[in-house]
Amino acid sequence: MIRPMQMAAVCLSAVLVAPWTRSAELPLVPELRAEIAAPVVHASVYEPHLSTGGRRVVVEYVGFPAVDVLAHIFGEGWSDLGTTVEFRALDGYVSRIDVGRFLTESAFLVFAKTDGSSFTIDNLLQNESDIPLGPYYLVWDNVANPSLLAEGGRNWPYQVTDINLVTLSDAMLVPKGLDERLHAGAELAKEYCLSCHQVNGFGGNKFPGNLAEIVRGFPREDFVQLVLQPSSVRSDATMPALARTLPEAERRHMAGALFDYLSAVPALE
Ligand code: HEC
Repeated sequence: MIRPMQMAAVCLSAVLVAPWTRSAELPLVPELRAEIAAPVVHASVYEPHLSTGGRRVVVEYVGFPAVDVLAHIFGEGWSDLGTTVEFRALDGYVSRIDVGRFLTESAFLVFAKTDGSSFTIDNLLQNESDIPLGPYYLVWDNVANPSLLAEGGRNWPYQVTDINLVTLSDAMLVPKGLDERLHAGAELAKEYCLSCHQVNGFGGNKFPGNLAEIVRGFPREDFVQLVLQPSSVRSDATMPALARTLPEAERRHMAGALFDYLSAVPALE
């Protein structure tokens, strides 16, 4: 639980920054364990960062149901305070997940592995190994849930330090007057790019810079190639390939729509 002093500071800054945001820095694990009313649970999941090419790797984690953490931090009425739960991570990654999903699926905020082995992971798709998962990692009960399984690790932020409840406005992504035909590209960017990148300040910070500016320097074919297969452009790429499980023609079409949108949306900063 956030201490009252901290809570006051958090609320004040939230009000100054954006009145529709409730933000909280997560307490350290021992503090959370001592303060939360909910019992610790063990969650067995198919670990999406290790389950590639049809292989399913089960890992059992220790943590709390995400809804219990949210209720503990923001109060019992947390699900009415915003439309979206935003997880911010040490490495600049931002994950935004609809509040409704926490009410219909089971997610856990975990802080250790049951077998006591190191709380790290190899991210095979991003060419990274031994990544620390702490302080907190959001995992989903995907074992009996094919649609969660198909999503892979997109909504599994690790190194989570902060949770915010927000009501998002798309005004930065889709400024008034933007050609209707570009709206689909904006949606794709939101879904596939803006956990790491930002457009006009909306999004994550894993790779700095406004995509609306960066993309203006790219010839279309180079952009498409990069997005479809980052490792073909940079051997050390950590950026994941766009929607790897979809058919090639559809991926190309999506990359084209992303290019059209990103090279047309006015760069506001
Ligand atoms: C998981 C995080 C992540 C996601 C998701 C992601 N990127 Fe990246 N992107 C990176 C990183 C990190 C780099 C820097 C190069 C590298 O390490 O691959 C990068 C590099 C780039 C670059 C090159 C920038 C430059 O100046 O060279 C472009 C353009 C780009 N990304 C566009 C996109 C688009 C479009 C999407 C969505 C389809 C996307 N990225 C999704 C992390 C990500």
